[in-house]
Amino acid sequence: MKPREIRKSYQNVMSLKKSVDRFLKDPSLAPAFRITLFQLEKDIKSARSFWGDLEKKDRTRRFAVCGDKLQIGGGRHYLKGFVNLDFFPPADVIWDCRYGLPFGKGSFKFVFSEHFFEHIDFPISAKKVLREIYRVLKPGGSVLLGVPDGGRVVKAYYKKERQFLDQLRDRCYSSRRPPVEIYGDLDLVNYLFRDQLDNPHYAVHYWAYDEKSLGNLLRSVGFRNMRKSSFDKRYCNQEREFYSLYMKAVK
Ligand SMILES: C[S@@+](CC[C@H](N)C(=O)[O-])C[C@H]1O[C@@H](n2cnc3c(N)ncnc32)[C@H](O)[C@@H]1O
Repeated sequence: MKPREIRKSYQNVMSLKKSVDRFLKDPSLAPAFRITLFQLEKDIKSARSFWGDLEKKDRTRRFAVCGDKLQIGGGRHYLKGFVNLDFFPPADVIWDCRYGLPFGKGSFKFVFSEHFFEHIDFPISAKKVLREIYRVLKPGGSVLLGVPDGGRVVKAYYKKERQFLDQLRDRCYSSRRPPVEIYGDLDLVNYLFRDQLDNPHYAVHYWAYDEKSLGNLLRSVGFRNMRKSSFDKRYCNQEREFYSLYMKAVK
């Protein structure tokens, strides 16, 4: 990307921010607009981080890679020995992967990502990011993807698995600010698909996956040997274990 294009994108984001801030301060704003603007506000926050970082450092599209392991969307779960990529610090590479991955073909042996993939739109960005992961992997390299287990939650709802549903409610939602409102088990299913729609701080969930849908999606971009994987404490976030689906696939 040329510095002029980066500056222009950053300026566009900043002018959008000004308008959104102005509307959100207006007490007469209809609630439906407020919810929509919350989403825009969050997208602006990540775009400011991404374009702002690019503008500051005036980087070109490719980053030098040190290490052969990449983590995408690790947030505060920073992994030593990995190149950590996220919108926000403390990542090593501040980047929005919906624009592709800023690394050359075959740069990594292993790509890890946990509770990130459900935060990008399906199918456009989801497929783009998977194609990019495929591209930056070496032949024979592997990807390990962890997502909230859509199939597990729907099954627990259908079979009324009280213990699992209570654990989901207590561990995932009880300490949220603003508080999460749950009036029945179906709201736990709703949160799986539409989480954080009305929360100004966290990115929304765009899509839910189960073993079959994620496996076939991986296959559609060229991966093979898709298989369910167990929780790997070398990389995975302890908090995610009980309700996550981990899938491994090979290039
Ligand atoms: C729910 S957090 C998960 C953090 C960590 N993987 C964990 O399991 O604790 C999702 C992370 O993905 C990052 N993220 C979401 N969309 C992204 C994008 N398009 N490009 C880069 N990072 C993104 C967010 O900034 C956030 O850190």
